[in-house]
Formats: sequence, C-alpha cells, structure tokens
Amino acid sequence: MKDKYGRVIDYLRISLTENCNIRCLYCMPDWSCKDFQEDKSMLTTEEIIKISKLFSKFGIKKIRLTGGEPLLRRDIQEIIKGISKISNIEEICLTTNGLLLESKVEELKKNGLNRVNISLDTTDEEEYKKLTRGGELKKVLRAVKRCRELNIPVKINAVITNLQKAESIINLAKLTENDSLDIRFIELMPIGLGKGLKGFTGQDIINILEKKYILENLYTFEGTSKYYKIEGYKGRIGVINPMSECFCETCNRVRITSNGELKSCLSSEKTLNIKELLNDKYSEEERERIILETIFNRNEKNIFNTSDSEKMNMNKIGG
Ligand code: GTP
Ligand code: 5AD
Ligand code: SF4
Repeated sequence: MKDKYGRVIDYLRISLTENCNIRCLYCMPDWSCKDFQEDKSMLTTEEIIKISKLFSKFGIKKIRLTGGEPLLRRDIQEIIKGISKISNIEEICLTTNGLLLESKVEELKKNGLNRVNISLDTTDEEEYKKLTRGGELKKVLRAVKRCRELNIPVKINAVITNLQKAESIINLAKLTENDSLDIRFIELMPIGLGKGLKGFTGQDIINILEKKYILENLYTFEGTSKYYKIEGYKGRIGVINPMSECFCETCNRVRITSNGELKSCLSSEKTLNIKELLNDKYSEEERERIILETIFNRNEKNIFNTSDSEKMNMNKIGG
C-alpha cells in the first residue's frame, strides 16, 4: 500500500489499551484526575486479529503492539499467537514500560514475539519513582536482563525533559557498555501532557555525551533513529528527533488507537473508525476502499502545534 507521496506503508502500530500501571509525568494525568476515561471501548482480541489480517493484505509486514501498557491485557498471549499465524506478518514487536514483562516474556517469545522496546527514562530508583509516579525500577531492569537472556533484541526508549538530572543521560548510555542493546533518546513531542514540559533535543543529548565519551557516528538511520556508538561499548546510542529533524519523508507506518481509530499520522487529529468498519453492514470491497483511500490521502508531514494537531494523550495513540 502506498500514499500519494509514494511512501510504502508496511508497518502497523496497534495500541492495545489506554490504561497504564504507571503515570509518566509527560504522558498521563495522575490517577486522581477525573478526566481519565476507563478503557471500555477497547478493541477485542478478535477485532485485533481481524484488523491485523486485513492490513496484512494491504502489505503490512511488521506489527507493533503498544499502549498505554499492552501487558495489562489478559489476552496478550492470545493476541500475539493469533497475529503470528498471519502468513505475511514478518515481525511482531512490543513497546512496553517493562514492569510486567519479566514473568511474561518467555511465553510471549514462544507465541511469536520478535522484539521488545522498553520505555525507561532514568536508571536512578528515586528519579524513576518520581517520573512515573510510583514505578519500581528494579522490575524494569530485571525484565531487560530476562529479555537478553532469551536473546530477544531490546531497545530502551528514553524521553529526556527538564525533570531529569543531566547525569541520568550518562547513566542510561552506560547500559550499552556490556550488552548489545540500543538506548534511544526521544525528543519530547507536544502531545498530551508533553505540551507543558521542556524537552532536550537529540543534539543536546549528543553534546552532553560527547563531553564524557568518544562518540562514533554510525551514519545509519533506521525507521525513526540515527545511531551512534560509544568507543569500546557493545550497544548503540540512538536519537529520535521528530521535532528538530522531521523524518516524515520516510514514514512507513500507520496506527490504530486503543479504541479502534485508524490514525495515518501521529501528529494529526484526523481518524477513521475501523471498529465501525469491521461491522457486517460494510462489504469487503467498501471497507478496503475506505481504508486505502484514507491512507493514500495521509499528511505529507507532521503538523504539531497547529489547530488540527493531535489533542489525545499518547497512551491512547500508542506513540
Ligand atoms: P522500531 O520498530 O524498533 O524502530 O521502533 P519504533 O521507533 O518504530 O517504535 P517505538 O514504539 O519504540 O517508538 C519510539 C518513539 O518514536 C516513540 O516516542 C514514538 O512516539 C516515536 N515515533 C514512532 N513512530 C513515529 C512517527 O511516525 N512519527 C513521530 N513523530 N514519532 C514516532
Ligand atoms: N513525546 C515523545 N515520546 C513520548 N512518549 C510518550 N509521550 C511522549 C511524548 N509526548 C514515548 C514513551 C514511549 C513511547 C511509546 O512514546 O516514552 O517510549
Ligand atoms: Fe504509561 Fe507509556 Fe504513558 Fe508512561 S509513557 S504513562 S509507561 S503509557
């Protein structure tokens, strides 16, 4: 499937739930906030598998399950097993905060999970507790270790804002010393609560790391990230720069929100209700035509900070 700018779309991100077991300060309001909606409209197991099959017909080869926290779903193993049976899907990935991962990951791998991205913004226990409003860092670090024992490729995602100490950037980078995992620093996007904070640019991060280490530029760009390496270290350091260096020109992805809306651009408010389209009142041809037309007409590039830009919080969209 292609859009009108000739970009091939072969990557689908599905947010499995808007709920989360922590509350990162830049992502979700506190538990006490009355605006937070319970997750009643979320997609069922069958709907997720049906959507995955439908999109695989359009050329989707990689599916990433996101959230909120996708491991909160009791049917997560069933979902992965179901998707892994779809013949054209070559890769199933998960983006998780890692808190519930350690005990589940072996079975997830058996069921067909290929890769894991773990959101972790600091390696300092107290800072983690503060940034996530109560999360326990040890559980995340144990999950990283377990994934690596099982030979599952891991990328750590870190969003750096003015809430963290600069030292935390160095300590996160140190995770690449003895293990071949990637740590990627993501620029804060003005989505949901991210609007109220000040983020670090990818270049800020590189400058901080270069004061302490010899950084080798690997001149590779994969999906969203540019990669570097600290001399002598096993893993890679990545920067994801959606704000300072737009990578929309090579965008190959669309997403489904936790309540079944197709979003063909992360930054735009425009959606198409897929849950409704799965209804039998639509013929297969009509359903496919509407989806392909929506994707064909997607945005050329991001539209952050305009009147049409996204107002949903990130947990609903799935990043
Ligand atoms: P890989 O499959 O490992 O390359 O992962 P990914 O970068 O596609 O997914 P992940 O869920 O780890 O996302 C990392 C960060 O990149 C998150 O902050 C996402 O919100 C952001 N991101 C992912 N896709 C896009 C995109 O199309 N546009 C923008 N602006 N940001 C994105
Ligand atoms: N800007 C950038 N990244 C964000 N994430 C959540 N909110 C934002 C934001 N406003 C990240 C999470 C997670 C990924 C899916 O999205 O930290 O790693
Ligand atoms: Fe949960 Fe991810 Fe949002 Fe943090 S960023 S509150 S882990 S959904």
